Amino acid sequence: MEWITTETYAEMSRKAANLFAATVILKPNAVLGLATGSTPIGTYDRLVEMYKAGDVDFSRVRTVNLDEYCGLDPANDQSYRWFMNHHLFHRINIEPSNTYVPNGLLEPERACAEYDQTIERLGGVDIQLLGIGLNGHIGFNEPHDSFDLGTHVIKLSDSTRAANARFFASIDEVPKAAITVGMRTIMQAKRIVLVANGPQKYEIVKRAFEGEVTPAVPASILQLHPNITVIYSKE
Ligand code: GLP
Repeated sequence: MEWITTETYAEMSRKAANLFAATVILKPNAVLGLATGSTPIGTYDRLVEMYKAGDVDFSRVRTVNLDEYCGLDPANDQSYRWFMNHHLFHRINIEPSNTYVPNGLLEPERACAEYDQTIERLGGVDIQLLGIGLNGHIGFNEPHDSFDLGTHVIKLSDSTRAANARFFASIDEVPKAAITVGMRTIMQAKRIVLVANGPQKYEIVKRAFEGEVTPAVPASILQLHPNITVIYSKE
């Protein structure tokens, strides 16, 4: 495991974006695993800047996102599809049909099965970007008594709903369930880059990477990944 500490959010974002840009330069049709949340926004901004400078071409890139709220229309500005379009896809030259986000409106069992098949058909993820929730969740793999492997539907914990309520008008509007890829898909990525920032994330990042490997802290299994870079910013 490679651990990088930065002083600023901008520096964290620049380092993470560099790893994604390098992957695309070396493999123009790379499969990028992408994440939502506020942490990766700076990474996406930096990738957009590199695209605009003519340094990275996304025309053949494929992307697979980690998760989506159940029941939200992709056009809803709280959906993760909307988030990705807004922060990245509509700002670069990626083919919309090459971007995959679970469909929160499909019958959940079907949405999960189709998503696993899609990832398999694409040949797996070359580089996966991850944030981390305050309780150690990855995507929406919440603390559990076992690691969930495939794409599945999850009931969101009260703490996750409370943490994400800041994006909604009120906590009552935060969906109660989500579709998330499982830990198998995440662990099968060839390379993983986890970004986390701020003092409020310090304890959970330490616990995930220096504590016991346990499904009670889903991110802890990442300790076993052979090629993971953790970039933690103090601010
Ligand atoms: C959400 C997402 C996760 C993300 C987490 C942390 O629950 N499903 O993928 O890592 O929030 O978000 P933030 O980066 O805003 O702290």
